[in-house]
Amino acid sequence: MHRELEGAFSLTDRSAVVTGAGSGIGREAARVFSLAGARVAIGDLDESGLGDTAKEIERAGGEVVTRRVDVRRREDVEALVDAAVLGFGGIDVMANVAGIIRNRRVVDTNEAELDEVLSVNLKGVFFGCAAAARAMAASGGGSIINIASAGMDQPAEGLSAYAMSKAAVAMLTRTLAVEMGADGVRVNTIAPGFIDTSMTRRHFVDDAGRVDAKTRDALWSTMSSQSPLSRIGNVKDIAHAMLYLASDASAFVTGQTLRPNGGVVMP
Ligand SMILES: NC(=O)c1ccc[n+]([C@@H]2O[C@H](COP(=O)([O-])OP(=O)(O)OC[C@H]3O[C@@H](n4cnc5c(N)ncnc54)[C@H](O)[C@@H]3O)[C@@H](O)[C@H]2O)c1
Repeated sequence: MHRELEGAFSLTDRSAVVTGAGSGIGREAARVFSLAGARVAIGDLDESGLGDTAKEIERAGGEVVTRRVDVRRREDVEALVDAAVLGFGGIDVMANVAGIIRNRRVVDTNEAELDEVLSVNLKGVFFGCAAAARAMAASGGGSIINIASAGMDQPAEGLSAYAMSKAAVAMLTRTLAVEMGADGVRVNTIAPGFIDTSMTRRHFVDDAGRVDAKTRDALWSTMSSQSPLSRIGNVKDIAHAMLYLASDASAFVTGQTLRPNGGVVMP
C-alpha cells in the first residue's frame, strides 16, 4: 500500500482508550489499535480477561496499560482516561465498548433491571464521552467511538432496555459531535449486527462452558439468513470499522452511525 494511504489509517504516536476490552469487540479493538501503532489504555470489570488482552498486545510488541473499571462509576472511567493522559501524554481515541444485554419484555422488567442496563450501556458511555472530550479538547482534538447496536434500528421482543440504551447512545453521539466539533473532536457511533462474542454465545454456552452445538447452529443459521451476505459477523468486522473511525481516514466524518451489520437493517 502507498505511504499516503498507510498514513491515513495509521495510529502511530497516538494513544487510545478502550472500555470493555476484557472480551469480544473491545479486546479486538484494543488489539487492532495497537497493531495500527497506538499505545492503548484498556479497562474492564473483568480483570482476568483484561490481563489476557494485555498479554496478547504485549506479545505482538504493543504498549498497554490496564485498569479495572466499572463504567457505571464516573470516577473509574475518569481514572482510565487519566491513565492514558498521564502515561502516554494525551488521548487521541476513545472507544466506549463496555455493554451488557438482558432479555426481558417491558411488562416483566423491574426498575433494578432497567437501571442496570441503562447505567452500563448509556451512563457508562456518557461518562467516557465527557472525560475523553474534555481531555481531547485540551490537546487539539481526537476521535470518540461509541458502540451501539443494530437493535437501535430494529425492535425485537425482550430487548427493550438494551435497544433504548443503544438508541440513546446514537443521540448522545450526535449531540456531542455538535458540541465538540470546534475543538477538533469527532464523535461517531458503530451499530454492529449479530457478532460472535460471549454476548451472543450466551444463547448456547452454559456456565461451565459447555456448547450446545444444535442450538448454536440453529441460531447462526437464522441470523445468517437475515443478512444479504449470508453470514454472522466477527470481531474483526467491527474492529476494522472502528480503526477507520479512529484514524485520519475518517477526518471529515462526525455525528454519524456506521452499521457493520451485514445489511440486516438498512435504515
Ligand atoms: N456481540 C454482538 O452481537 C453485539 C451486537 C451489537 C452490539 N454489541 C455491543 O458491543 C459491545 C461489546 O460487546 P461484546 O459482544 O464484545 O460482548 P462481551 O460480553 O464479549 O464484552 C463486553 C465486555 O464489557 C465488559 N463490561 C460489562 N459491564 C461492564 C462494566 N460495568 N464496566 C466495565 N466493563 C464492563 C464485560 O466484562 C466484557 O468484557 C457491547 O456494548 C454490546 O452491546 C454487541
